[in-house]
Amino acid sequence: MSLSADYIVTSLQELYGESVTGSDIRGWCAMNGSNYQTVTNKISDYKVGRGKWNLTVREQMEQTYQVPPAPPAIIPAQEQNFIPDKDDTFVKFGNFGDLKKIIQSNLFYPTFITGLSGNGKTLSVEQACAQLGRELIRVNITIETDEDDLIGGFRLVGGATVWHNGPVTEALQRGAILLLDEVDLASNKILCLQSILEGKGVFLKKIGKYVKPTKGFNVFATANTKGKGSDDGRFIGTNVLNEAFLERFPVTFEQSYPTPATEQKILEGIALDLGVEDRDFCKRLCDWSDVIRKTFYDGGIDEIISTRRLVHIIRAYAIFKDKAKAIQVCVNRFDDETKQAFLELYDKIDVDFVMPTEDQQKESLDAHNFS
Ligand SMILES: Nc1ncnc2c1ncn2[C@@H]1O[C@H](COP(=O)(O)OP(=O)(O)OP(=O)(O)O)[C@@H](O)[C@H]1O
Ligand SMILES: [Mg+2]
Repeated sequence: MSLSADYIVTSLQELYGESVTGSDIRGWCAMNGSNYQTVTNKISDYKVGRGKWNLTVREQMEQTYQVPPAPPAIIPAQEQNFIPDKDDTFVKFGNFGDLKKIIQSNLFYPTFITGLSGNGKTLSVEQACAQLGRELIRVNITIETDEDDLIGGFRLVGGATVWHNGPVTEALQRGAILLLDEVDLASNKILCLQSILEGKGVFLKKIGKYVKPTKGFNVFATANTKGKGSDDGRFIGTNVLNEAFLERFPVTFEQSYPTPATEQKILEGIALDLGVEDRDFCKRLCDWSDVIRKTFYDGGIDEIISTRRLVHIIRAYAIFKDKAKAIQVCVNRFDDETKQAFLELYDKIDVDFVMPTEDQQKESLDAHNFS
């Protein structure tokens, strides 16, 4: 990588101060994998004698010519508050109490949460932080996520390249909770987090700075798999995670869907929030999802209705004020056979439900496809 003169000067200044010698530069070159000759050529403007450089010289010249001051080499930590907002519709269940205890302990205890989609994994970490008034930095992991995204890198600001902390470094410094969301989508590039997962902080090799974790810093990871891939192909894009990476998480919580009673409480709260209080409908939806999940676990069906999808249905009901339509538009995403099976199951649970005719189904599907 070709480093700019500005970057070299700033980095040297940070390490050795304004007056640097040949041996300082050799040390810097060794740390950064750079060539001594190339580096000294780039900073020749600062040379004040044999084997001596004064890194303020050019700055003084620039000031004489009234050049505006250079932007800071490191973007200061954001003053923003990262404590998530409390969600009044959140209902605690399952592992929530344990997650909260881990955060409250202030101990460094990386925690892995695995479970099927849409059962409140992400929301539970977010709400635990909200309730405890703790900062949360959430990073959505993808196969493209790399060291630059996580730890930080140089960004172009006002024509100069300046160091910008990535979310992981920011969380380390602030003592915040770091949420690596959907971590099983990651590639091996995530291995840059190994030392951080040991509680040791990180050496920012590009600026020669060591960042130690501040008390309270902890890592949570969520995933639909256990990092061993998805045999049945349900979670496309998930990868087999490096064993040593997984080994750095002392605990794993297996999150299941809420019980029908808890799920009903969730739906009722959301319905109330949306101004469509209908306890009966909420109960029927939960009985329906319970039957579907049992059938799914028994291998009788390939798809499942998540808590998230039930919330989608309640929202659709708040919009269309029509239960059959709300269910219909929200199950259209499944293949015909599964969709039909879902509708028939709901029909058995709700005597008032009128199965949409084929024409109505087609009409609704068109609306779904073109919306
Ligand atoms: N305990 C809860 N209280 C209230 N709502 C909940 C709760 N759990 C889940 N939900 C609802 O389900 C939605 C999905 O939750 P969340 O995004 O946390 O799921 P997830 O398990 O992280 O899913 P994915 O694996 O797809 O990322 C939430 O937006 C919320 O509407
Ligand atoms: Mg999630």
